[in-house]
Amino acid sequence: MRDLLAGNTVIPVIVIDRVEDAVPLAKALVAGGLNVLEVTLRTAAAEEGIRQIVAQVPGAIVGTGTVCTPEQITLSEQLGCQFMVSPGATDTLLAAAQKSSIGLLPGISSASELMRCMEYGHRDFKFFPAENSGGAAMIKALAGPFGDARICPTGGIGLHNVMDYLSLPNVLCVGGSWVCPAQMVKEQRWDEIEQLAREASALGR
Ligand code: 3PG
Repeated sequence: MRDLLAGNTVIPVIVIDRVEDAVPLAKALVAGGLNVLEVTLRTAAAEEGIRQIVAQVPGAIVGTGTVCTPEQITLSEQLGCQFMVSPGATDTLLAAAQKSSIGLLPGISSASELMRCMEYGHRDFKFFPAENSGGAAMIKALAGPFGDARICPTGGIGLHNVMDYLSLPNVLCVGGSWVCPAQMVKEQRWDEIEQLAREASALGR
């Protein structure tokens, strides 16, 4: 996960409600400089949307999000995704991920959860829901005992607070939906989404 995410400061967390939005949305994000895309498996349109993005958007590195079950790991592989993200991590999920050909970024929000994922070989973690779980201060504290861990916080992050996270050395990248707001997607305002992506991809460390 570290190699795949390195150099990508912002990972859009995408929710696809209509299949026809998937490709133009992904193209707008990639055109704006965000090419690692997390597409959540939380809508009926997600599966076909991912299939179309993988086939039709060159340059996109597509992963599944909201992965909660072994079946969704199998689906992610079948769709040709390059990574998976889970909001939390159960032993069932972690054991299935160990057998997968693609990497999982498991979700944690405490030291114990991080340690359990480490037992399965993970070094990189989604921290979710970031703002509600202690925010940047919590991630800074985790750097003490877990110096090798790298964190990708998501949940409640936007331009107003993103630098609080990106300024931390143990933050690998941040995830968020602020670059693809539901209303803009609904109104198919792809140029504005491209502009949001451009702003996000220009963020320094
Ligand atoms: C999620 O999985 O929903 C992400 O954490 C996105 O959170 P956000 O919508 O607050 O950016």
